[in-house]
Amino acid sequence: MEIDGARVLVAGASGGMGGALARELADRGARLAVSGRHPGRLAAIATATGGVALVRDLTEPTGPEQLVAQAADALGGLDAVVCAAGVVAFGPVTELDDRVLTQLFNVNTLAPIRLSRAALGALGEGGAIVNVSAIVADMPTAGMAAYSASKAALTAFDAALRREARRARVHVLDVRPPHTETGLTERPLAGEPPRLAQGREPADIARRIVDALAADAAEADLG
Ligand SMILES: NC(=O)c1ccc[n+]([C@@H]2O[C@H](COP(=O)([O-])OP(=O)(O)OC[C@H]3O[C@@H](n4cnc5c(N)ncnc54)[C@H](OP(=O)(O)O)[C@@H]3O)[C@@H](O)[C@H]2O)c1
Repeated sequence: MEIDGARVLVAGASGGMGGALARELADRGARLAVSGRHPGRLAAIATATGGVALVRDLTEPTGPEQLVAQAADALGGLDAVVCAAGVVAFGPVTELDDRVLTQLFNVNTLAPIRLSRAALGALGEGGAIVNVSAIVADMPTAGMAAYSASKAALTAFDAALRREARRARVHVLDVRPPHTETGLTERPLAGEPPRLAQGREPADIARRIVDALAADAAEADLG
């Protein structure tokens, strides 16, 4: 994919990872629609990237579809849709109530699935879908069982979607970053994070993801 001039929707752009992705894409010449729930953080990233700000809660069932339509309207079409929205919860599953389980799967799994479904209707040949999963999809982790499951489900979806989207010549990139210093672990839906080693830099992860997007790679080399 040619990043320079590409029209890209970044959902979760008000967050650490999505914000870094939006900056990297904008630095390489992409035209952006940036989305999140928090109007203040979203306005900041829109200003930094020259992007169009679209406030949207992705857990509303029609939210993802409406977001893709709005972004396509704003940019005159779409070449890529990136989902970097997500939430985390810590602690044994016996300590996670239904509200937390539902929110984990609504944001981490159903939202990107709905966003991808809408994206397939909006992207032309050569378009791309990028879903930010997590390393726990490959290495399910005690104390993060439900989070791991929500990400493993997304990664399984992406693997099958890649085959479904082949005929439409839409590329699907599933990225599974390790712990990254975005502040995500400081705002869990529930529980306390385990003691974690220093995480990766969001800008470095973002650069590697955009490299993979530019190369139409099946996997991002996150180092
Ligand atoms: N940080 C890590 O160590 C790490 C590692 C692997 C994978 N990941 C994944 O990377 C993605 C981004 O996480 P992050 O680290 O950047 O965390 P973050 O800074 O907390 O950002 C999370 C983003 O998700 C958005 N979001 C949450 N709930 C939403 C909802 N209901 N509707 C719409 N947007 C919603 C937030 O929007 P608002 O702030 O506007 O509400 C924010 O933009 C997540 O999927 C996460 O699982 C992170």
